[in-house]
Amino acid sequence: MTRGKFITLEGGEGAGKSTQVRLLKEALQRQGLEVVITREPGGSIGAEEIRNLLVTGEPGRWDGMTEALLNFAARRDHFAKTIWPALDEGKWVISDRYADSTIAYQGYGHGLDMTALYQLWDIAIDGFRPDLTFVLDLPVEVGLERALGRGDGEDRYEKMATQFHHDLRAGFLKIAAKETDRCCVIDATRSIEDIQADMQTALCRRFEITLS
Ligand code: TMP
Repeated sequence: MTRGKFITLEGGEGAGKSTQVRLLKEALQRQGLEVVITREPGGSIGAEEIRNLLVTGEPGRWDGMTEALLNFAARRDHFAKTIWPALDEGKWVISDRYADSTIAYQGYGHGLDMTALYQLWDIAIDGFRPDLTFVLDLPVEVGLERALGRGDGEDRYEKMATQFHHDLRAGFLKIAAKETDRCCVIDATRSIEDIQADMQTALCRRFEITLS
């Protein structure tokens, strides 16, 4: 059995990742592929409990390193219980966020040491990388307006200073520039359909498949 592909979507607040995850899943399913969609922090029972600690409460509730450790603890559980078993069964997995979010938010955003964060990635999940990562890029102001409009109570990160969001947008672009084989930057200011079309084109090129 061939291992499935692991695809991640990354980006700042309000980039429209969850809609794009759903559309991509439907496109892959139309090709007869089995697809699991998931998210971080979260994606397993234990990791969803940790998510609740991370996304609610005051912005200063956790410092950067505590956030990084909580995220990698959640990710380890998510990887062991959800991601790896599905890939191993030949299913494709699409995750709304993964370890690049820790590099961007806790590293570029909160200024944590990058070497330490990449070491944590190695320690927690043996540095496991996605096969393809989409970075949905859009101006901070546009993203924050959309995210705050959601009113879902998960607003701890949206409440952080605007400079933090500028730093993490720049961070995601640096990550993509460093790992060009894996990462694909998508202009997320456009329509849902145009964004999805670009993602599917990039995916077909990367995996040498066709999607209808
Ligand atoms: P979401 O709003 O995309 O569901 O993500 C929840 C928040 O958690 C979002 O503000 C980004 C943040 N986050 C981190 O700070 N570090 C991480 O490693 C992950 C996965 C998310």
